[in-house]
Amino acid sequence: MQDFSNKSALVTGAGSGIGRGIALAFARAGARVAVSDIDVAGGEQTVRMIQAFGGAGHFYPCDVSRAGDVSALVAAVVKDAGSLDFAVNNAAVGVETDALPDVPEAVFDRIMAVNVKGVFLCLQQQIKQMAQQGRGAIVNIASVNAYRPQNRQSVYTASKHAVLGLTRNAAIDAASIGVRINAIAPGAIDTPMLEAALRNAPAGRDQIIDKMSLIGRLGLPEDVAKAALWLCSDDASFTYGHTLAVDGGYLVR
Ligand SMILES: NC(=O)c1ccc[n+]([C@@H]2O[C@H](COP(=O)([O-])OP(=O)(O)OC[C@H]3O[C@@H](n4cnc5c(N)ncnc54)[C@H](O)[C@@H]3O)[C@@H](O)[C@H]2O)c1
Repeated sequence: MQDFSNKSALVTGAGSGIGRGIALAFARAGARVAVSDIDVAGGEQTVRMIQAFGGAGHFYPCDVSRAGDVSALVAAVVKDAGSLDFAVNNAAVGVETDALPDVPEAVFDRIMAVNVKGVFLCLQQQIKQMAQQGRGAIVNIASVNAYRPQNRQSVYTASKHAVLGLTRNAAIDAASIGVRINAIAPGAIDTPMLEAALRNAPAGRDQIIDKMSLIGRLGLPEDVAKAALWLCSDDASFTYGHTLAVDGGYLVR
C-alpha cells in the first residue's frame, strides 16, 4: 500500500461509485482528500465514511462543467491543504439510451459538458497549480468505450474518446513541468451508473456481465482505486499518457 501521508488529493465525482472508492483509498493511504461532487449529500456521505476510519476528508461542492466552480475548487483545496499533489478527474454522466438519430441535442450537450469540458477545465486548473509546485500527478477516468463502442452509446463513447485525447496531449504538454498525466479505462464496475445502464439493457444482467468480463463478475470501485493510486505513486514515475484498462479482461477478446 502506498504511503501518501502529508499529500493532498482531489477526486471529482467522489460522492458515489468509483470516485468514492478512490477517495476512500487515498484517505486509507494517509492523504488529505478533497471529496468533490455536484451531489452534496453523496459527497458528505463519503466524507463521513473517511472520518469513520480516522482519515482526513473534506467536502467541496463543484459542478465540473462550470469554469468558475472548478477554479474556485482548486483554489479552495490549495488554500486549505497547502498543495495539490494528486487529482483524479472522475466525474461524468452516464450513457444515453437512444440510437444516435434520436439522441436529443440537450443530452449531447450535457454529456460533452460534464465528461469532456469538465475534464478539460479540471486539467487546466490542476496543471497550473502543479506547475507552480513543480510536481503532481493526474489521472482521468475514461472507459473501455474509448476503445470499443457499445450499442446506443454514441455520445458517451465519443466523450470518452475525447478524454483519451486530452490525457495523451496534456501528458506531452505537462511532462516538462514535472506533472504526470495518465488515464484509466474501467470496464463494467458495480456502481449506480452501471446499475442504471443495466436497467435499460435489452439483454439480461447475467449475459452482460458474461460479455463484459473474462471472470464472470463485475469490477469493484476498489479495483479502479488501486490502479489510480498506483498511477499517482512514484512507482509509476516513468508512466506518461498511458491508459490502464481495469476491465476484467474485456478488451482482450
Ligand atoms: N461504472 C462503470 O461500469 C464505468 C465503466 C467505465 C467508466 N466509468 C467511468 O467512471 C467514472 C465514475 O462512474 P461511476 O460508475 O462511479 O458513476 P456514478 O454515477 O456512480 O458516480 C458519478 C459521480 O459523478 C457526479 N457528477 C455528475 N455530474 C457531475 C458534475 N457536473 N460535476 C461534479 N460531479 C458530477 C455524480 O453526482 C456522481 O456522484 C465516470 O467517469 C464513468 O464514466 C464507469
